[in-house]
This record gives sequence, structure tokens and C-alpha cells, in this order.
Amino acid sequence: MLGKYLGITSALLAGSVVGIDLQINEESLKDAAATTAFNTMLNYTSNTTGHIPGYISKKWWEGGALFQTMIEYWYVTGDTSNNPAVSQGMYWQRGDNNYFPANYSAYLGNDDQMAWGLAAMTAAELGYPQETSMPSWLTLAEGVFQGQVRRWDSQSCGGGLHWQIFPYQIGVRVPILDTHRWTIADSIEINDQCASSSKIQWTSNYGSYLSGAAYMYNVTQGTTSKWKSGLDGLLNTTLTIFFPEQYGGNIMVEIACELRDVCDTNQEYFKGLLASDLASVTILAPYTAPQIRPKLQGSAVGAAKQCIGGADQTLCGQRWYPSPWESADLETQLSATSLFTSNLVAFADVQLATQATSSQNGSSAESQAGTTSNTMSSTSSTASTTSTDRPNGAAVIPRSLWVVNVLILGQLWL
Ligand SMILES: *[C@@H]1O[C@H](CO)[C@@H](O)[C@H](O)[C@H]1NC(C)=O
Ligand SMILES: *[C@@H]1O[C@H](CO)[C@@H](O)[C@H](O)[C@H]1NC(C)=O
Ligand SMILES: *[C@@H]1O[C@H](CO)[C@@H](O)[C@H](O)[C@H]1NC(C)=O
Ligand SMILES: *[C@@H]1O[C@H](CO)[C@@H](O)[C@H](O)[C@H]1NC(C)=O
Ligand SMILES: *[C@@H]1O[C@H](CO)[C@@H](O)[C@H](O)[C@H]1NC(C)=O
Ligand SMILES: *[C@@H]1O[C@H](CO)[C@@H](O)[C@H](O)[C@H]1NC(C)=O
Repeated sequence: MLGKYLGITSALLAGSVVGIDLQINEESLKDAAATTAFNTMLNYTSNTTGHIPGYISKKWWEGGALFQTMIEYWYVTGDTSNNPAVSQGMYWQRGDNNYFPANYSAYLGNDDQMAWGLAAMTAAELGYPQETSMPSWLTLAEGVFQGQVRRWDSQSCGGGLHWQIFPYQIGVRVPILDTHRWTIADSIEINDQCASSSKIQWTSNYGSYLSGAAYMYNVTQGTTSKWKSGLDGLLNTTLTIFFPEQYGGNIMVEIACELRDVCDTNQEYFKGLLASDLASVTILAPYTAPQIRPKLQGSAVGAAKQCIGGADQTLCGQRWYPSPWESADLETQLSATSLFTSNLVAFADVQLATQATSSQNGSSAESQAGTTSNTMSSTSSTASTTSTDRPNGAAVIPRSLWVVNVLILGQLWL
């Protein structure tokens, strides 16, 4: 009896930890990200014999989301172990260099294609290694951009992109922004010129608009009040509604489904998207960092405590606030990976690659950026640039790149 108690006590004294023991410092965050990235990729089997690289059954878009996170993970940690699987999938699914592969094009939506376009953009911006025999990441992102621009509907609701691409699918559901209250409604209909909408609030919609506003704020060098008020307004709404006081105010909650435990697998990953977008906002509009960082950090500490599932007690559940552990899958792992990775941005000197010319292949000068800046502290961006307005030492993203991100991200800015 006594022995038992002693045993328990000494285990407690020795500080034996269940789950991921996280402190907010670079090493600890890297460890946490490495654990969750590894667990995520355990559930990625598309690179094995008999499977289609990059294709996640019934959730084609998710391959793009997975690879974007893994590219960001590579960038902030320098861990290249998943790069072969990531590159293989990114190239395999490129279709006609526009991420619209014939196998699935009949049912793809603009948002599905966008997920891959953004993964390619991320690869271009972060200088992710590219293969000489392949089109550049920028070329692939531009392929998505060109297709989406052609689908812009200027007739409906003041202009925008439809959720779906083909007419028979137009029950149209796109998120729409209310610039008076800085809220984003989901699932609007064009039949009534977007008058009615669902009030459901999703983290990922706010992430898209926030980073779109931040890119525009940055590219206009903070001089256009429209983008600054958009950014501030959306940030306030985001930080208010998705970080409820009920859980201390610093932990992200997918309020639409998490509390009742009814999130579907797509929705399980939305918080990871917002975390990544919030981290981008801190880079593009550094004045927001003091507001955003405590929220990302609080969420990371909370999430780590929920990474207690599976045989080695590191599988992360959906919720990041204290609650019973329910279950884990690829999406909950990916979401946690994105969160830890997003926190590492605070410890990083992020340099977005300079790529002034487009339509180059992987063999061009821009590919050098990937080989020289694959760790956070290495800041070189060696790509040649023809840009003449490059400020001293700062990374410049040419307009073509900004526009790709802004148009893809800020899908319907009224
Ligand atoms: C994820 O991988 C683990 C470990 O291989 C396995 O037990 C689990 O069934 C997988 N889950 C899914 C959803 O693929
Ligand atoms: C598939 O990718 C995972 C994660 O990077 C890797 O561990 C595994 O070895 C890859 N499998 C094959 C068959 O290439
Ligand atoms: C399209 O489907 C064929 C047949 O299943 C498969 O071999 C090919 O890899 C698929 N292509 C893509 C891009 O998924
Ligand atoms: C780039 O790569 C694509 C696909 O491999 C090829 O068709 C094209 O000719 C290449 N372009 C240049 C400029 O090398
Ligand atoms: C911040 O957002 C909340 C929730 O949408 C709203 O009630 C509040 O008025 C906003 N505050 C400011 C200063 O815009
Ligand atoms: C734009 O982003 C860069 C980082 O890419 C940052 O250094 C700069 O301060 C930002 N500009 C503004 C106006 O915040």
C-alpha cells in the first residue's frame, strides 16, 4: 500500500508528463511541432504503393492544406524529412500546372483549387526547394490565379468568386464580409444578391480575409486606411469571438462545432488555417504581433495538454481548452502542427523569397532561394531580381505574387 503511494508520488515528483510538455521557447516548440508533424505524416499514406501521391480520398483539397503546413514546418524547423513526400504530392497533383487535375476537375470548387494554389505560393515565398525538371512553384501558383481570375463574377453581389465552379453547382456558398461590423457570413446565395446568409462563424473564413487584408496593407505600405481598418476590424472580431473569455481568452475555439463535438473532418483543420494566417499577419503587419502572439501561445500551451492520445500519448485531440480527450486523426494532428509551427514564426526571421519574374522553371535562379534558406535563421534570398524598388535588405515580393495571394485569399471583398 505504502509502496504504491510512494511509487505514485515519486512519479509525480519526477515530473513524469503525459502528452507534449510545452514551454514557449524555440526548442520546445520545435520538439512539439516535430512530434505532431511526425504523427500527421503517419496518417498520410498516399505516398505508398498502390496509392495516388497527394490525393487524400474524398478530401482532395486537404492535400494542399497538408503540404502548405508541412512546407511552413520545414521552413521554421529546417527538418527536411517530409520533403520527399511533400514534393512528390505537390507535383503529382499539379494537373495542367494549375492544380485542376482532370481526375477530379468535375467536382472541384474554387476553394479546393485555392488550397493548392496557396501551398504553391507558400513554397514560392519561402523558397521551398524545387525540382529542375518541373515548373516553378510560382508558375504553379500563377496557373491557379489565371484560372480563378477568369471565373470572377462581376455581376453578382458586387463581384466575387463563387464557391463552386460549374453552373449546376451554383447553390453558391462563399463567405462574405460585412465591412460595418467586420463579420464574415458563410454560405450566401447569389439568387437574392447575397441578402441572406448563414450566421455560422468559421475560423478559416476570418483567416483568409485577415491575411488578404494584411497583404494589401503591406503592399500599400500601410498608407491605405481601407486595408488598415479592415485588418484592425477583422482582427478584433477574430480575437473576440474565437478566443472566448470562458476559457481564459487566449485559447482558440471552433465555436460553431467544437463545443458540441460535431466538427466534421474538414472543420477539424480550420483552426490550423487561422493559426497560420494569424502568424502571416504578424509578419506582414508587425504592429499586430503584441495582440496576436499571446493568443497563439495560449492556444499552443492548451493544445499540447490535449496531446495525450494513442500508444505514446502524443496524439492531439480537436479541442485546445481543458476538456476530455475525444479522438485524434490526421486533421487534428495537422491543426496542432500548424499551431506549433505558427508559434515558431515569433522566433524566426522570416524572409519571403524575392522572385521578380514568373513562368520560370525550377532550374531557374529562384530555385536557389530554397537551397540556401531552409532554416529560420538563414535569411538569404539569393534569387535574382529585376525589381528596382527594392528597399535596403528587405525582401520584396513583386506585385504579381501579392496579387496571387490577395486574390486567392481575399475572395470576396466588398
Ligand atoms: C493514423 O495512424 C495511426 C498509427 O499508424 C493509426 O493507428 C490510425 O488508425 C490512423 N488513423 C487514421 C485516421 O488514418
Ligand atoms: C511516405 O512519407 C512518409 C513521411 O514523410 C515517410 O516517412 C515514408 O517513408 C514515405 N513512404 C514512402 C514509401 O516513400
Ligand atoms: C488519376 O487517376 C489515375 C487512375 O486512378 C491515377 O493513376 C492517377 O495517378 C490520377 N492522377 C492524379 C493527379 O491524381
Ligand atoms: C518548364 O517545364 C515544363 C514542364 O516540364 C515544360 O513544358 C516547359 O517547356 C519548361 N519551360 C522552360 C522555360 O524551360
Ligand atoms: C470588437 O469585436 C466585438 C465582437 O464582434 C465587438 O462587439 C466590438 O464592438 C469590437 N470592438 C471594436 C473596437 O471594434
Ligand atoms: C511588410 O512586411 C515586411 C515583412 O515582409 C515588414 O518588414 C514590413 O514592416 C511590413 N510593412 C508594414 C507597413 O508593416
